[in-house]
Parts: sequence; C-alpha cells; structure tokens
Amino acid sequence: MEQNKKTIFSGIQPSGKITLGNYLGALRNWPTFQDTYNAIYSVVDEHAITVRQNPAELRRQTLELYAQLIACGLDPEKSTIFIQSHVPQHAELSWVLNCYTMFGELSRMTQFKDKSAAHADNINGGLFTYPVLMAADILLYQADLVPVGEDQRQHVELARNIAQRFNGVYGEVFAMPEAYIPPVGARVMSLSEPEKKMSKSSENENSYILVMDPPEVIMRKFKRAVTDSEGGIYRSPEKPGVSNLIEIYAAVTGESPEKVEESFSGQGYGAFKPTVGEAVVEALRPIREETERLLKDKASLETLYRQGAEKAAAMAARTLRKVHKKVGFVSR
Ligand code: TYM
Repeated sequence: MEQNKKTIFSGIQPSGKITLGNYLGALRNWPTFQDTYNAIYSVVDEHAITVRQNPAELRRQTLELYAQLIACGLDPEKSTIFIQSHVPQHAELSWVLNCYTMFGELSRMTQFKDKSAAHADNINGGLFTYPVLMAADILLYQADLVPVGEDQRQHVELARNIAQRFNGVYGEVFAMPEAYIPPVGARVMSLSEPEKKMSKSSENENSYILVMDPPEVIMRKFKRAVTDSEGGIYRSPEKPGVSNLIEIYAAVTGESPEKVEESFSGQGYGAFKPTVGEAVVEALRPIREETERLLKDKASLETLYRQGAEKAAAMAARTLRKVHKKVGFVSR
C-alpha cells in the first residue's frame, strides 16, 4: 500500500444479479479511482445473508459478481478485489463496533425499515445490525472515500458517526470516510414504477435491467418502460419515467441531461425508448461478454480472489490489532 495515496473502499452484494442501477450508481465509477487511490473493493457475501439465500445460487452469484468487477475495468494488479467472508476481520471489527452503535441509530435506518417490511417473516438481528458491518468494511481500511449510490448515503453517515464516537473515546483510530455520490446515475429508477429505485429484489422483471440481460431482453424492457401521456422529452417531477430514461441515456452516453433533452426535443417516446435501449445494450455488451469469458476460467478467478483476500487481510489486520488494543483486549 502506498502511504501517500488516499484510500477508497466500496462493496456490492451478491444477492441476485446486478442491475443497471448498480452499474451506473456504483461499479462504473470504481475503475476511475484505481490509479489515484489505494482502491479496495469487495463482494460482500456476509451482507447478502441478512435475507435468506439459496446456498448454491449465492456461491454462483458471488463468483459471477467477482468476474463482473474485473469485466467492468477493475484491474486486480492495481486494486484489491476480494470476497468479504474471506477476510475474517470484517466480522470481528463489526462485533466491536456493535458495542459503539446505538439501538436508536440503527432503528432510524430507512433501508432497515424497507427491508423488514419486505421480509416480515425474517426480521433477523443481522438485518438490523447490517449497517455496522458496513461501517466495519469501511473503517477497517481507513477509507477516505466511499463511492456509492444515493441509497447508501445514510449508511456512510452512520459509519462516520461510529468512527467519531470511537475516536472520541480512544483517540484517532479511524480515518473519517466520506461518501462519493456520482453526479449522474446515483439513483436509477424502476422502469415500471419510476417513483421507486431500480432494484433486483422487485417482483416485476420488467422493472429492472440486468447487466447480464441479452440485448433483445434489454430492448423489450425499454420499449415497455412506463412513461406518461404528455409526450414531451424533458425532465420534471411530474414525468418520473421520462426523467429516468433521460438520466439513463445521459449516464451511458456521457452527454449531459440538458443536451439529451435538447437533441430529442420534438421527438416521440416511440423513437426515444428504443434509442435509450440501444445505448444501454452497447454500454453493457462488452461487460457481459468479458464476464462470460472470465467465468470459463475458474482456476484463474480463484487465484485472483485468493490474492485479493490476502492483500485485504494484511491491511485489515493492522486496524483490528489497534482496535483490540484500544478497547483493552490482551494481545495474542
Ligand atoms: P448494494 O449491493 O445494494 O448496491 C451496490 C451499489 O449500487 C448502488 N445502487 C444504485 N445506484 C443507483 N441507482 C440504483 N437504483 C441503485 N441500486 C443500487 C448502491 O448505492 C451501492 O453503491 N450495503 C451496500 C454494500 C456495501 C458497501 C459497504 C458499500 C457493504 N459494505 C461498504 C460501500 C461501503 C449495498 O447493499 O449495496
């Protein structure tokens, strides 16, 4: 690890396939940091079991997601890329931090409220304390910056509060992390209910685009995207569906949303929707193809994630040792 570089950390859950929202809000930005930061990225399988998973599926999805991170442009030579459960310090620090996190703070997490409503039959302790594990992920690496979509902002705020509280008692143990929310694509909305964020946990398959969706499926989903009857191509709170399509198109083409509005003004949805679909197909095609190629060589993937875990554990162990000492554990 180079001492003069700042550190960046982010994670993504292998619960189900990743969506265009995950890609635009998070993944796509990750490679841009790997030259200028100590960049550390994790497939957070321990987070995924807060809701019930099929074990074989979880294993498959974890590997697929690991391959996708590389297919999106992460270079295992430059970044540290690992599977969370391979680095036991996450769970260990999480326990300590649980004792420095208040019940009231966790009760205020909007994602906990949403998820416990969605999984009323399985409101387990892990679902409740999940933001503490996320804080441990971030604080273990002394991360300065945490690139996430808008929906994770509250969790990064909590990580800061926990760090502040701990540092307040024991001195400067943790760096103070800051969220990095991208200017476009931070909140990609559902294609069928554009008032809600695009989410893989939705019952309606037409509401989300998966990074691994074949082109014809992507085109079909965009053609069915919910819009409105007014007809104009511009952003407005009254036009959440069209606004979302404009944002998606801007994000994948690199144009500004204003420029997109200008160039499509006067055109109908009939032409606009497939144009957005085609742009998304072209943006995702190389990632899908590269992921498929990487998944054929399981042995190479295994070497990569093992090396990644080794690098991560060396960094994590330093912080954990310090924390254990501060709280008064006898050194091993
Ligand atoms: P997860 O796995 O739900 O999502 C991964 C990333 O994708 C972003 N995202 C979106 N961005 C834009 N539009 C959307 N519709 C959309 N849906 C998801 C998320 O904001 C996230 O950046 N708890 C985290 C994973 C995590 C983590 C961490 C992140 C665990 N530990 C430490 C940062 C640092 C999660 O469940 O993300």
